[in-house]
Amino acid sequence: MMRTKLVAGNWKMHGSLAANLGLLHAVREGAGGGAEVALCVPYPYLAQAQAVLNGSHVAWGAQDVSEHEQGAWTGEVSAAMLADFACSYVLVGHSERRSFFGDTDAVVAAKFVAAQKAGLVPILCVGESLAEREAGITGDVVTRQIDAVLAKGGIAGFARAIVAYEPVWAIGTGRTASPEQAQEVHALIRSRFAREDADVAGGLRILYGGSVKAGNAAELFGRPDIDGGLIGGASLVADDFLAICAAAA
Ligand code: PGA
Repeated sequence: MMRTKLVAGNWKMHGSLAANLGLLHAVREGAGGGAEVALCVPYPYLAQAQAVLNGSHVAWGAQDVSEHEQGAWTGEVSAAMLADFACSYVLVGHSERRSFFGDTDAVVAAKFVAAQKAGLVPILCVGESLAEREAGITGDVVTRQIDAVLAKGGIAGFARAIVAYEPVWAIGTGRTASPEQAQEVHALIRSRFAREDADVAGGLRILYGGSVKAGNAAELFGRPDIDGGLIGGASLVADDFLAICAAAA
């Protein structure tokens, strides 16, 4: 099945109104056809991203979302609020949310469902720590993270969702999974979904994230089950990000 590649930037907690402007315009002008491109920006910059990227090839989104619809949840941002800013995507279960902010598998599943209810496409992040990889339980960890979402949202939800495999040991470390290592886990992820529904599994886009750079993107994206990338550090430099987008096109 043909799957259009997606390159999604994850700015994390970086940026300022002034600094973002040049980056947003450069990505808007530089992102051509071929692959889909999106930027997941900090909440306060959603309006700016919308203003600059509206009508372009580049979509935008957020890096997290509340599992709750509305109410007394001080500091939280709902999926409907993200939809108000025309977000297409939202990350759920990024490893930094899981490890530093206590997002459990159950919370991640609830966020995934909340995002879809508001019409957003969740990008479900999964991945093992270094200790888990060394213990040989990468497959178990990733499967557990996926199964929590399947149990809550069902396989149908994955017909309009994206999965990102991000080995924790490769995030921001400069240590990328080799294309073979990444492909192995991507294939395992797809086979997990195929057990539920072969069509959904065949159409599902599975991104790789973790120290993707212009120099290693093409090799990663060339593997059969790697459908694009989730890009942290390199999404903050327009030329680097655009080179990665070109590698996916
Ligand atoms: P990195 O981050 O590209 O800086 O490794 C990826 C991510 O955390 O999504």
